[in-house]
Amino acid sequence: MHDPLLYEGKRVVVTGCASGMGEAVATILVELGAEVIGLDVKPTNVAVKTYIQVDLKDKASIDAAVSEIGAGIDSIFSIAGLPGSPFSDLDTVLVNFVGARYLVESLLPVLNAGASIICTASNAGLGWQQDLEALMPAVATPGFDEGKAWCEANPEAIITGYYPSKKLLNAWVAWRGAQLMQQGIRLNCANPGPTDSAMMPALEVQNGKAMIDAFVGPSGRRASSAEQAWPMVFLNSPRCSYVAAEAIHIDGGFLGAMTTGQIDVNAILADLSSTAG
Ligand SMILES: NC(=O)c1ccc[n+]([C@@H]2O[C@H](COP(=O)([O-])OP(=O)(O)OC[C@H]3O[C@@H](n4cnc5c(N)ncnc54)[C@H](O)[C@@H]3O)[C@@H](O)[C@H]2O)c1
Repeated sequence: MHDPLLYEGKRVVVTGCASGMGEAVATILVELGAEVIGLDVKPTNVAVKTYIQVDLKDKASIDAAVSEIGAGIDSIFSIAGLPGSPFSDLDTVLVNFVGARYLVESLLPVLNAGASIICTASNAGLGWQQDLEALMPAVATPGFDEGKAWCEANPEAIITGYYPSKKLLNAWVAWRGAQLMQQGIRLNCANPGPTDSAMMPALEVQNGKAMIDAFVGPSGRRASSAEQAWPMVFLNSPRCSYVAAEAIHIDGGFLGAMTTGQIDVNAILADLSSTAG
């Protein structure tokens, strides 16, 4: 079958196109014949049609990128992110949630009929459903400035930056995705497990290598960026036209093992904290 994922000639936006999963997604989409508009704070080596430098923690920078992107977008891959430390909690939440959300919301008016959006969160956001009541005030903030103001007013709610940003993203996708599907726009969330990318050394420092190793789960290994990219490319393709407001876990079976009691996260965490001393 020629072009089974139907990306040929489509205009797609990929954030984080300079590295890791975003770079892998952009590379695949170029090969599939899409017109890729790559966004990142750093330059990319991928042969995208258009590269736009953007800083997702800066509203004016996102506004400028949206103007440059123009009309007629079929898919958005919102993949760029920060790992938390050494970046501040606020910057991490601004890039991973507030700025990512603002870019998507700002592009809604230029989306083509049947458009698709995927936001990359993380298994670090596991348990967001239990925290929904606490997350919703931030999720429901209407824009960049309001989201940033909420973070500044609630520093205790964004400690570590990374974990809360990924919970917020999952909660927002479930909430907003249900609304957007009424307009035929599909918004979904990808939750990767540990993946060998440029971000991994920082994730190891922040969480400890033992924690990252524990979260590889049944696969017994980390993913490659390409192993994360392909499911995202599939999920944003018209072949997944009935998948919306969904959270997919690309984690080598970790969530399944956890849900069925084959992995005890609390025991892992207790073990790690007693080892840490
Ligand atoms: N690597 C992992 O183990 C892992 C696990 C779960 C989730 N994730 C998430 O997957 C996504 C991709 O991460 P990756 O592993 O490919 O990391 P990566 O560091 O290789 O890529 C992240 C990209 O985001 C860009 N970026 C950072 N700050 C930015 C900003 N202010 N504005 C615009 N772009 C910015 C970087 O320049 C980089 O190109 C991230 O959202 C990350 O949180 C990663």
